[in-house]
Amino acid sequence: MGNTVKVLFLNNRDMRELGAEDMSAVLHDVHRAYSLFESGDVITPGKVVMRFGEKPEDENTLGRINCMPGYIGGEYDMAGVKWIGSGPMNYKQGLPRASVMMVLNDPDTKLPLCFADGTAVSAKRTGASGGTAMKLLSRQDSKVMTICGAGAQGRTQLEAALIVRPGLQKVYVYDIRPENAQRFVEEARAKYPGVTFATVDTPEPAVRESDIIVTVTLADTPFVKAEWIKKGALIVHMAGHEVEYGCVTQADKIVVDFWDTIKHRMASTIALMAAEGLVKDEDIDANLGEILNGKKTGRDNDDQIIYFNAVGAGILDLAVTTRCYRKALELGMGVWLPYWA
Ligand SMILES: NC(=O)c1ccc[n+]([C@@H]2O[C@H](COP(=O)([O-])OP(=O)(O)OC[C@H]3O[C@@H](n4cnc5c(N)ncnc54)[C@H](O)[C@@H]3O)[C@@H](O)[C@H]2O)c1
Repeated sequence: MGNTVKVLFLNNRDMRELGAEDMSAVLHDVHRAYSLFESGDVITPGKVVMRFGEKPEDENTLGRINCMPGYIGGEYDMAGVKWIGSGPMNYKQGLPRASVMMVLNDPDTKLPLCFADGTAVSAKRTGASGGTAMKLLSRQDSKVMTICGAGAQGRTQLEAALIVRPGLQKVYVYDIRPENAQRFVEEARAKYPGVTFATVDTPEPAVRESDIIVTVTLADTPFVKAEWIKKGALIVHMAGHEVEYGCVTQADKIVVDFWDTIKHRMASTIALMAAEGLVKDEDIDANLGEILNGKKTGRDNDDQIIYFNAVGAGILDLAVTTRCYRKALELGMGVWLPYWA
């Protein structure tokens, strides 16, 4: 006893400077996390979901705070937790929906090492998850994409998509709030001048034309119909309930990130289908780690319709935050807090 312990605090600006928003680096971290998950070098106890309100659907207005602990091995060798608040009505106060506090813990002593803002990490790693799915599962010659949900995640899905599929030429953006889609498209045109962007009032024609369909909305009822999905398309289902059951049943291949967590979280189309006995464990063709580690194949031909669903896990955020933390130590960045003074 009597030892003093300091913890490094990294705010949003530190994290940006440390490369939390560098999508190519985040794609690498996310690939490694999936790969280490598949080879068993992680601990992922699952998500604890703290919903506000009486009924599950109250979460869509009253929000939630989720706790996602984990340990990631390999070159990361770090434990920690992602503590993520989601306030769906925050936009009324001009605040982002999601806010994330990351805590890193020493895997030996278990003491905390770092408190870091993980808000950008969370958005970027979700983009990188979708991007990993696009890299492994979309047609190499994909040209047209539709993004449903013009929020924080929609932006990082686009960023990752244009890294892994630089041949994309046209991107449609659909949002229930047309002003959000408009703002998204204006920003995207300035950032990616070589790509054509268009807002759509209804998703159908855009989805029918698309090689990649990404859904990242807060929708609680499906609006993407199975009959709109063309041969060879990839559905990247990053949120909850945007796609109808038929989108899953007609898929030639079903790929997920973390199947047990998807079933436990019960917040996406395929999870509801599993609870109703309509999707069995053996219907899941692969997780991303199995494909990255060469145990399963990704896309097998240009005609396959592939459905991908991701729920996320704290180890993705841990990998990115650990990289930033180590760089902060090297560069002497952040503020040391006297945790045990
Ligand atoms: N799978 C993962 O790992 C993961 C990680 C982070 C977030 N998410 C999910 O991604 C979703 C989007 O998150 P975000 O941070 O971008 O939120 P956000 O609030 O920034 O953006 C959501 C956008 O969706 C739009 N929208 C809401 N309801 C809609 C509907 N019915 N139809 C069309 N558009 C609608 C909103 O107007 C808004 O522009 C959330 O559901 C979140 O839970 C998933």
